[in-house]
Amino acid sequence: MGDYYIQGGRALEGEVQVQGAKNSVLPILAATILHPGTSVLKNCPRLRDVEASIQILRHLGCKARWEGDALIVDASAPERWDIPDHLMRSMRSSVIFLGAILSRFGRAELSMPGGCELGPRPIDLHLAALRQLGAVIDEGGGRLRCEAADLRGRELTLSMPSVGATENAVLAACGSRGTTTILNAAREPEIMDLENFLAAMGCRVHGGGSSTITVEGRQPTHDAVHTVMPDRIVAATYLAAAAAAGGDIVLRGVDYRHLSTVTAALHEAGCLVESGEDAIRLQRRGRLRAIRPVRTAPYPGFPTDAQAVLMAALLRSQGTTVFVENIFDSRYRHVDELCRLGADIRVEGRVAVVCGVERLQGAAMESTDLRGGAAMVVAALAAEGESRIGSTAHIRRGYEDILRDLRQLGAAAEER
Ligand code: EPZ
Repeated sequence: MGDYYIQGGRALEGEVQVQGAKNSVLPILAATILHPGTSVLKNCPRLRDVEASIQILRHLGCKARWEGDALIVDASAPERWDIPDHLMRSMRSSVIFLGAILSRFGRAELSMPGGCELGPRPIDLHLAALRQLGAVIDEGGGRLRCEAADLRGRELTLSMPSVGATENAVLAACGSRGTTTILNAAREPEIMDLENFLAAMGCRVHGGGSSTITVEGRQPTHDAVHTVMPDRIVAATYLAAAAAAGGDIVLRGVDYRHLSTVTAALHEAGCLVESGEDAIRLQRRGRLRAIRPVRTAPYPGFPTDAQAVLMAALLRSQGTTVFVENIFDSRYRHVDELCRLGADIRVEGRVAVVCGVERLQGAAMESTDLRGGAAMVVAALAAEGESRIGSTAHIRRGYEDILRDLRQLGAAAEER
């Protein structure tokens, strides 16, 4: 796994197909456990986090194999309901398997998920929702021991619209007797995609994408085929790259409605953005200008996952842009690395102030986390000379091959 070397200063031109969504396929892979049969996931991205999920499924006794871009999971005869520590630590979002394992087996044992580069990643909302459905969960010794022989549907309210807690509650509700209504559910499009997969399997879930989701539990299930939705954050990343480097690109296979707050910000900065049925075109000529404060928020607000890449696109803009990161406690770790290029960014707690500079100089950077690393790639495209980005394993968690896609758009980028 080599470092990324990027020669900045070249405009991007051309078209690229956007990969399937990481944050959709991960809960869907957990959901395959619900059905004692086969699930075919088309447009499944080949990512390190997908590989980690496949290892967990195989540990549980499921089979998983690739056929082109389709991942085929056979959950007909799983034997285990535990996830060992090393597999839990391989992917922070592995807690998403908890609800599905409880639904299938009535019990589960896994270690507490570690924190991550974004700060502590508590799961209190996940556990509160599962306990309301009847799960008995012991949290001693850094492990979760869960008994749920008789999950019962009911109305439950999330104290905040957590994406993962919503997904865990839906998957546990699928194995519960009766009806579950989840109030204050997260509204991210990936939850709608999870609902579509569950419906293809025979589950009865309604309201995905809204704040109120209802689940009729214990429906008979059957083999399912599902096409994973496009990755809106990868799309946002490539739009930010074209905004940073200049040029004229078209993204294919995207639903522009899923990233309207990002395209609105880029339009305000001076890009020409045109949206079609399953494509977005972005043109950037001339210098970008600073925009009104960017406040991250749960969907449909500005996505926290696009904060770093939009910041990278604005480093050479005219004026000052304020960012407020409201979702995660530590999501500015990319700032010090971007300042090595000559960027002028100051951070005070949740606020980052970006003062646009005329020029950036290529430099050596170390990727700090998934989206921070992607931001370094975006910024390097706007810098003069060569930049090197190390610790690229972070980036591969969420991007199938960011250099392949950017080279297709004319970037001078290689891995050594
Ligand atoms: C999902 O994480 C995504 N990951 C994240 O994407 C994304 O940033 C996040 O949603 C917000 O959109 C996946 O879908 C795999 P949350 P998740 O639960 O589910 C706090 C990326 O870059 N919280 O909505 O973990 C939590 O600490 C990744 O692709 C609790 O306090 O997000 C955070 O501050 C990064 N208690 C906030 O809520 C809980 O029980 C939002 O978390 C759960 C969460």
